[in-house]
Amino acid sequence: MAGTGHIILLGAPGVGKGTQAKVIAAELGLPHVSTGDMLRASVAAGTELGKRAKAVMESGALVNDELVLGVVAERLRAEDAARGVVFDGFPRTVVQAEGLKALLEASGGLGIAHVIHIILDSEEIVERLSGRRVCRDCGAIYHVRFQPPKHEGRCDRCGGELFQRDDDRPEVIRYRLAVYEKETAPLVAFYRQQPGYAEVDGNGSTAAVTDRIRCFLE
Ligand code: AP5
Ligand code: MG
Repeated sequence: MAGTGHIILLGAPGVGKGTQAKVIAAELGLPHVSTGDMLRASVAAGTELGKRAKAVMESGALVNDELVLGVVAERLRAEDAARGVVFDGFPRTVVQAEGLKALLEASGGLGIAHVIHIILDSEEIVERLSGRRVCRDCGAIYHVRFQPPKHEGRCDRCGGELFQRDDDRPEVIRYRLAVYEKETAPLVAFYRQQPGYAEVDGNGSTAAVTDRIRCFLE
């Protein structure tokens, strides 16, 4: 896989953005930038940002655009972002997409090389999210049926404790899907006309989905 510029993984909650972003980022040697992971880390650390984001995230709504753009702007200033990053869960609104465009233009550096839109139907999404477990220490993603850890409740990679996200309760999952349709789905029209936009089927094994994504990155 090659190419320069940022990669955006777009798609509804639970389509596999985080799972795929980790693989793609590792293969390309680029940082994985998940605004969800960064916000959850702020909540866990009890920072000012975390305090503002906590209740909003638990409800399944979106955190304020300005806050998120601030976090991303700071992350892109880090040295390891100079060759591009793999965005996961950002941008999430048209305001964020426009903000990112302005930010990249102002920096005069890299643009957006690829927007990979992963598509999966909502029944499969609910199934995937309700069985998800995440490692508290390294962030590895599991599923109780589809990607079970070797030892229940423990991360294969680091031995950390696996937990269920607060927003993976059935009623919150439904709400997150509705928020996606209203706030994030309009981004498809925003990016569809641009070179580098591709739609990928999110069904099948993790490796099969990675193979489909690779085709567009080559
Ligand atoms: P965020 O953390 O971004 O959550 P999300 O978009 O809802 O996406 P998920 O992490 O739920 O799903 P995913 O696509 O990463 O799927 P995964 O790979 O884990 O955001 C959380 C919250 O933070 C938001 O609600 C909002 O409040 C806030 N936020 C974050 N970014 C923001 C922004 N930019 N603006 C405003 N607010 C923001 O996979 C899911 C499950 O499926 C796992 O169990 C996995 O093991 C399994 N799985 C994956 N692939 C496969 C496969 N091929 N076959 C079988 N199982 C699979
Ligand atoms: Mg994720």
